[in-house]
Amino acid sequence: MCGIVAYIGNKNAKSILLQGLEKLEYRGYDSSGIFVVDEHKNGHLFKEKGRIADLKKIIETDTFCTSGIGHTRWATHGRPSVKNAHPHQDSENRFTIVHNGVIENFQELKDTYLADISLTSDTDTEIIVQLISYFVKKEQTNTFEAFKKTISKLKGSYALALIDSNQPDIIYAAKNKSPLLIGKGESFSAVCSDAMAMVQETNQFIELMDGELVTLTRDEIKIETQDGTVIHRTPYTAEINLGDLDLGTYPYYMAKEIDEQPAVLRKIIQAYQNEQGQFELDKTIISSIENSDRIYIVACGTSYNAGWVGKQLLETIAHIPTEVHLASEFGYNMPILTKKPFFIFLSQSGETADSRQVLVKINAMGFPSLTLTNVAGSTLSREADFTLLLHAGPEIAVASTKAYTAQITVLTALSETIARENGVAGDGNMAHELGIVATGMERILSEKTAIEQLATDFLSTSRNAFYIGRGIDYYVVMEAALKLKEVSYVQTEGFAAGELKHGTIALIEENTPVIAIITNKATAGHTRGNVQEVSARGAHTLVIAMEGLEQQNDQIVLPEVHPLLTPLVSVVPTQLLAYYTSLHRGNDVDKPRNLAKSVTVE
Ligand code: F6R
Repeated sequence: MCGIVAYIGNKNAKSILLQGLEKLEYRGYDSSGIFVVDEHKNGHLFKEKGRIADLKKIIETDTFCTSGIGHTRWATHGRPSVKNAHPHQDSENRFTIVHNGVIENFQELKDTYLADISLTSDTDTEIIVQLISYFVKKEQTNTFEAFKKTISKLKGSYALALIDSNQPDIIYAAKNKSPLLIGKGESFSAVCSDAMAMVQETNQFIELMDGELVTLTRDEIKIETQDGTVIHRTPYTAEINLGDLDLGTYPYYMAKEIDEQPAVLRKIIQAYQNEQGQFELDKTIISSIENSDRIYIVACGTSYNAGWVGKQLLETIAHIPTEVHLASEFGYNMPILTKKPFFIFLSQSGETADSRQVLVKINAMGFPSLTLTNVAGSTLSREADFTLLLHAGPEIAVASTKAYTAQITVLTALSETIARENGVAGDGNMAHELGIVATGMERILSEKTAIEQLATDFLSTSRNAFYIGRGIDYYVVMEAALKLKEVSYVQTEGFAAGELKHGTIALIEENTPVIAIITNKATAGHTRGNVQEVSARGAHTLVIAMEGLEQQNDQIVLPEVHPLLTPLVSVVPTQLLAYYTSLHRGNDVDKPRNLAKSVTVE
């Protein structure tokens, strides 16, 4: 995680860096800092614990700054504090660096080269900048060569931007595993972890590949590899609508993004529909899946939860055996694979390091892969054989909502296309069924006031909570529990309803909230039985049931939709319950503690 940004050019670097850092704050927000060089070539370093807003308060210089680097941090090595905030400098304050990633061999490097240096922070990053200074002095070499040599010694992940105070008209950058883009505009050059940070200045970006180093001046960008080969790469145009980044009248992005879901579904239907109103996806993807004997879905967090619904869709609609795996486990504890596996990576950001390490491994094994992502040109998209975009628009709230429903929607489109190409009957016209879902979502969203009241009644003071469901509802309660805990800090578990009585029911006390989702006729009676069991032990029960299965005292009744698409409607009240609980508890809804949106470290 962490976000980095750098700018060199004809505008005031200070305001551009701060603006960029605000856009990158979703990547980490426990401390931040900038280093800027003014017109008289004086360097100014500002660092602060907390948010970018806190950093802004301490920035005094009014002078025009021509270059600079900035960082917003999600702590890996060293607690959040001013001393651990980036940028970091060498002992003589000549070199200043920002870093996103983790240097695994930092202790070894310190012991080998920097035993005599006393460090001022607890970070792995400071080692990098001290090492650059060490090589410049020891080998009487220039900054670029010392930077390059330092890079060659690093093990781990990094996106770096460096300024040498002796040559403040140059910025050096490099990357390995962590994302990094170069932005280009008239009379300026920039570096950023995500195009969003610089899209106000330019929509022209160059992707960097692992192992590449860059030298930037305001008019020139030189990319080269460790062996000195110069790379010429054409910039791409980032398709980001600035309006999508605005909150509008919403108090939080999470509220905005929950509301956007019906529109996102309609956008996906439009993007993947043919003239006959059926889903039709890229034939090369479909034939690659047809040639495989099993699908492996690999993902983390909310995307992993969407993967379980995807398994149900792919198996039921397309008749393809599908497994779902946590990326952080899969890479280092790989199951026995079938002879012809096909991998699907689900990742809103397309940058998640846990998922990427699996992709790197399966690429080396020669297996085909598809990434479903919201970010065109992201690492997972570039490195997989195929990409399907989620078309959800930028998801800014740390808690994922619209990307979850978008992933399920695109997986529905994929399942139906495979079914048709394979001559499998499928499950009806899913594009049409998803249109019904979008309308159903709107109905639930119109009942926000009642759901807000339920959040107050059930969750405003409770320490813990349980979600229960069976079958496809079980997959949704896993996501519902994750959402509630991450934004409201209520300790929540999502359980297969039948499992509760096999141990966890011991945790039910007077007034423990237990929320049941019931959308499946075959298991409705059993889940109702489980609701009775916990109710008899004092639980405060809330039932979310589908029309046709509802009973008199059920608090939330969902519009009826296709049985495989119920997650798309049942998840919405759970997102709203999480949102309102967080809001009423006074939490920062969009930036829950300890989290970051894009998890770019393993
Ligand atoms: C939870 C959440 C995370 C992400 C996870 C994977 O609300 O957002 O659990 O789903 O970190 O991120 P992506 O989908 O970007 O790979």
